Amino acid sequence: MQTRKDYILSLEADKWLFQADMLVDKAHVVMLREKGILKKRDVVAILNCLDKINSDYFVEHALPSYEDVHTAIESVMIKEIGEDIGGKMHTGRSRNDKVATSIRVALRAELLDIIKSVNELRAELLKQAKANIDTVMPGYTHLQHAQPTIFAHHFLAYADAFARDFWRLMSAYEYINVSPLGAAAFASTGFPIDRERTAKLLGFDSVLENSMDAVSTRDFVIDVISCYANLMTNLSRLAEEIILWSSSEFNFVRVHAEYVTGSSIMPQKRNPDYAELIRARTGTVYGSLMAVLSICKALPYSYNRDLQEVTPHLLQATKTSAASVSVMKSMVEKLELNKEEMAKQAQVGFTTATELADTIVREANVPFRTAHAIVSDLVKEGVALKDNGKAVLSELDTFATRHTGKKLSKRGLTEKKVNRALNIKLSIERHNAKGGPAKRELRRMLRARKSDLVTDDKLIESKDYKVGRSLDELEREVKRKARIIKVKKQS
Ligand code: ARG
Repeated sequence: MQTRKDYILSLEADKWLFQADMLVDKAHVVMLREKGILKKRDVVAILNCLDKINSDYFVEHALPSYEDVHTAIESVMIKEIGEDIGGKMHTGRSRNDKVATSIRVALRAELLDIIKSVNELRAELLKQAKANIDTVMPGYTHLQHAQPTIFAHHFLAYADAFARDFWRLMSAYEYINVSPLGAAAFASTGFPIDRERTAKLLGFDSVLENSMDAVSTRDFVIDVISCYANLMTNLSRLAEEIILWSSSEFNFVRVHAEYVTGSSIMPQKRNPDYAELIRARTGTVYGSLMAVLSICKALPYSYNRDLQEVTPHLLQATKTSAASVSVMKSMVEKLELNKEEMAKQAQVGFTTATELADTIVREANVPFRTAHAIVSDLVKEGVALKDNGKAVLSELDTFATRHTGKKLSKRGLTEKKVNRALNIKLSIERHNAKGGPAKRELRRMLRARKSDLVTDDKLIESKDYKVGRSLDELEREVKRKARIIKVKKQS
């Protein structure tokens, strides 16, 4: 049973925020010193004390006894170095701008990792696509055999979906990487702080200007979880296909042993639990999105404690999405294909019927709707299409006479052309309009997507580098500010 005090805590989220909170403290104190708001002596003591607090021991033992991570750090500092000095750290700020800043700092690091992981998944999909540029498979609509395609085409489709996830997450990053620090409780402060400086030291791209907006908004959280929801939807669809494809009914793929489990009773089982959990956890991420939307709706400006309740959902959605992308990446990498079965199934279910209708249009100058009706009759009659040009043409003539009063063989359709239309590979090759499964298009798309990926990887590396450089600068400033007095003391 929770105690009254427990009720107010958000311990897991606060542990998650701890490292970011330390950085925010350091940047704030460095800036207070630079602006002459705090004395050198006080800053040295505060920075050294922060260094001491920064430990696993603090997180496990001290943090849980306080209202939240910010209160814990300040209280322990005051215990250590006294209120006269330790009590000055919070000058010109509030927990409201502090927490908003720490969430952004913590989230930013996780997000950069997720985006990199999405790109790794894209790379694996492209690898599998390249290796399977000749692998014929049935394409589906309504989960019914529709038209033949190539496995590379199917995986290139997913690669494109995840490329859009990349861009969505990048745009979320832009909204996240702005600094609310210095907004104080909401009304700014009378101390001559420098918000640009703390923003720069923390690797933010800019300042979130309006101090009331800065502490009130969690729209960046809604944004990023919406991106996760889209990402998880794409992962879930792929997971679902892997589950279907690995069933005896399809028998298209073999999921690697690391990503299946056995049954406690049925010795033969290879259950695709990892893919199933990706599918299920898509639901938990949607749940987080709904929770955050519901928490934020109708909150009066500016800060309310309700906002604390947002953070655990952000944490959960972030961890779940990160893990799911990474599991999917390895599962795709190690997926084995049963090419024979796919090729066999590509023939089943009159998959070349559309190409046959198209051929009738091209060769016999018949409107598509009429050609559709003629081939539809043929299919209803159950005439086997495969390599059966002669029989098919004579049947087509019968139905064409019924629909148009004239045989197709009298209008230019030949047995050879029928056979070509019924040939799976030739039929796929014909589909060479932009974005289709013809080999030339597949090769072009593979090249283009690979080069996009190189550019996208560079973009994310540059973001990572920029943040890293700022945080290094922050550490250098901290060391410098802590050392100045020490040097003087010795002399
Ligand atoms: N733990 C709080 C949160 O996550 C920090 C801010 C508390 N501010 C306040 N005015 N009570 O939102």
